[in-house]
Amino acid sequence: MKILIIGTGYVGTTTGLIFCEMGHKVTGLDLDEQKIQALRAGNLYFYEPGLEELLTKHLQTNQLAFTNDTETAIKDNDLIFICVGTPQAPDGSADLTYVKKVAKSIGQHLNQYKVIVTKSTVPVGTAKLVTSVIQENQTFPIPFDVVSNPEFLREGSALEDALHPDRIVIGTTSETARTIMRELYKDFHCPIVETHPKASEMIKYAANSFLALKISYINELARVCDKLSINVNDISNGIGLDHRINPHFLKAGMGYGGSCFPKDVNSLIQTAKELGNPLSILEAVVKVNAEQPVYFIEKMKQSLGSDLKNKTIAVLGLSFKANTDDTRESPSLILIDKLLEEQATIKTHDPIVKMGVPHQFLTIEETVAGADALVICTDWDDYKNLNWQSLKTLMKQPYIFDGRNMLDKEKVEKLGFYYFGMANH
Ligand code: UDX
Repeated sequence: MKILIIGTGYVGTTTGLIFCEMGHKVTGLDLDEQKIQALRAGNLYFYEPGLEELLTKHLQTNQLAFTNDTETAIKDNDLIFICVGTPQAPDGSADLTYVKKVAKSIGQHLNQYKVIVTKSTVPVGTAKLVTSVIQENQTFPIPFDVVSNPEFLREGSALEDALHPDRIVIGTTSETARTIMRELYKDFHCPIVETHPKASEMIKYAANSFLALKISYINELARVCDKLSINVNDISNGIGLDHRINPHFLKAGMGYGGSCFPKDVNSLIQTAKELGNPLSILEAVVKVNAEQPVYFIEKMKQSLGSDLKNKTIAVLGLSFKANTDDTRESPSLILIDKLLEEQATIKTHDPIVKMGVPHQFLTIEETVAGADALVICTDWDDYKNLNWQSLKTLMKQPYIFDGRNMLDKEKVEKLGFYYFGMANH
């Protein structure tokens, strides 16, 4: 099949490359000339393990091309995937400006029957909206179908997730489109959920919100465990072994961040509110998540003293999780902002992220030198095996606050550190 991917971000680029792997011819369309130039040259403009190698591979086989020529791209392809961003609007809902723009272009340039697929995370009713916008912009009524096919990949493991999904969701009422989508995914060995577009759109929000809920649940429970000197990791393990619960997304820490959970939970809350059926459980999820960095700072104050002014804090990890350079809604940046409000001096480190507050590019040693405490905010593997003995000699005070419960508490305590995790007793 000839596939057009509109929007070359994490989802678009990964999706396109996966389809190349399946033997399809793929064109990536983006209006951002710089992104197109970079991708054509085989350079991924964001960090995602394994993706750049695949990009180079498929550019060489000529299976993959990038363009900013919207009209030709739409006319030349059979299947069009909408993978543009749906940022959060000020009221918490999803901003569909880019999706509507794309739908308008498709309407203007549609030259024969095509299937248009929404892969971006979009609110319930968007497939219908895209259909209307396309129709409104057509000069001749050329038939087409809009399918909802949400993406569940995670940043940091995008390739693995996209190649081996737990399930594929196809939301359509058209038998023709369903047949084409089945053909497209015929080599994937996972269940395919075929449903109405509205249900498909809801599945994506419900999945992300449920995962966020698990995280907020264990984080709030961690605060209670802290009071009782219980190790919350044992609780995660003890309940996670119940297959009805499962062990995933039960890691207590600084809270969830990223480009999806915060935005998607808010969007679902907003949808529910508009319908007069508030999702109070999700409102609590958001509240707990927002409190988590504050709770951690309170923990720091209990040992370092209530006045953090003139204290130097080394923050390890800026991205919202390991294996990505994405700092959107990163708990680390939220913590840094709050520490700056307390007038603490901040030094930052990240293995990949090339920004910081203030903009510094320090080695680990430089970051912790003279620090009163270090805080681990991102669970980068690099931080597990640091030479703690030598780092301790550089610090002013040997305090470790492990916001991801990733260090061996006993080991660092033996070296003379004061260690505090998130109910990591
Ligand atoms: C998420 C969904 O997992 C994915 O299916 C969807 O397509 C996009 O949104 P992503 O945002 O890439 O993916 O990251 P994810 O691995 O889900 O982590 C989200 C946040 O939750 C991170 O900040 C992570 O550190 C945090 N997290 C995750 C925890 O705090 N505890 C956990 O147990 C798991």
